[in-house]
Amino acid sequence: MYIYLLGRETELCLAELESKNIETQMLLPNIVMSPKLVDTKNLGGTIKIGELISDSISTVGDLQAEIINYCNKLNLDTKFSYGISSYGSSKINVNQFGIKLKKKLKEIGIKPRYVAANEGNTLNAASLKHNKLTSSNGREFIVINTQNSIKLAICLSFQDVDSYSKRDYEKPCRDRKVGMLPPKLSQIMINLAQIPKSAKVVDPFCGSGGLLMEASLMGYSSIGSDISKDMTDCSQKNTAWLKQNFDNCKPIEILPPTDATNANYPNSDYSIVTEGFLGTNFLSKPTVQLINEQKPQLRDLYLKFFENINLQDNMPQSICISLPFWVLNEKVIELNLIDEIANLGYTISEFKSVRRSTLSYHREGQFTGRQIVVFKPNKEK
Ligand SMILES: C[S@@+](CC[C@H](N)C(=O)[O-])C[C@H]1O[C@@H](n2cnc3c(N)ncnc32)[C@H](O)[C@@H]1O
Repeated sequence: MYIYLLGRETELCLAELESKNIETQMLLPNIVMSPKLVDTKNLGGTIKIGELISDSISTVGDLQAEIINYCNKLNLDTKFSYGISSYGSSKINVNQFGIKLKKKLKEIGIKPRYVAANEGNTLNAASLKHNKLTSSNGREFIVINTQNSIKLAICLSFQDVDSYSKRDYEKPCRDRKVGMLPPKLSQIMINLAQIPKSAKVVDPFCGSGGLLMEASLMGYSSIGSDISKDMTDCSQKNTAWLKQNFDNCKPIEILPPTDATNANYPNSDYSIVTEGFLGTNFLSKPTVQLINEQKPQLRDLYLKFFENINLQDNMPQSICISLPFWVLNEKVIELNLIDEIANLGYTISEFKSVRRSTLSYHREGQFTGRQIVVFKPNKEK
């Protein structure tokens, strides 16, 4: 059995696992268990994956014995680095437990190096990477405190935070004014669209090309366009930079400036994955009136965009789109477009694991959020 530690937007992360046919059982609100193992590399919503080594430990003493027993079997003859992360309402103080364990490990002839938890009771991905805790002589012990028992897992893989931040912050062209999709969210959206590797990813509102970059690294050829020449130039620069800085990139084609409401799509198999125009990027608190003033233009843009897709001879296999919503005084203001889009001839995909069809992504303190929806065209290809 394997455990998946999910990111902040747990519903999006669960839906992503569902789209990869990973059946899950919830252990804690942010940890699920599954018999299936995949790599974290292309999962934007999973922070760590671990292998369960014991699932019904009842006391802290038994937990210590279980870890010692496990380490004993490793036949270690070099220095052994280990750390502990504890999730759920913890019965242990991780650092006290880790230091006590060090003594016990020395008693059985191991040369231990304890890596202290650096985020409360847990180790973050950067610490796992820099202390080599998933190598032959390194381990992260993941302690999951559920209502009935303590479960123990060993971390197998974790998100490469350095690679994400390189893609996010070091690409040569960044335009904060138009809003950029974070790389992890781009990966989640591409996975939600369930695209066969032989099909292309098309982003008709490509902006600075963030989503195309992720598609390329995930093994998809892609095509991007945008109404603005500044943005297509920006995408050109970023995608060229990607090829120079990352291995195994699939081709990315950037088209001349194109209006997404009358674009033509490829003749071969493709899916559309995109974040459309989000309206004004509010840096200070807007009024309800300011938000409402955005709506007609945005509603018109998206309805025309979906009407245009319907005119294509070769329809996309799926469309995963991020639409804006706004959060003001803890109230959500939506475009209320989903049903209207469906009425144009699209079926909204349901995510059974979260009993929802729309998923939201919103950062604390921001006024604009993203509503993620997957549509399948009703029209036959
Ligand atoms: C929020 S950005 C997309 C961000 C992009 N996903 C990224 O990661 O950089 C929205 C983009 O939509 C473009 N846009 C607005 N109206 C458009 C239209 N009618 N057709 C095509 N692109 C449009 C804007 O120029 C802008 O670059």
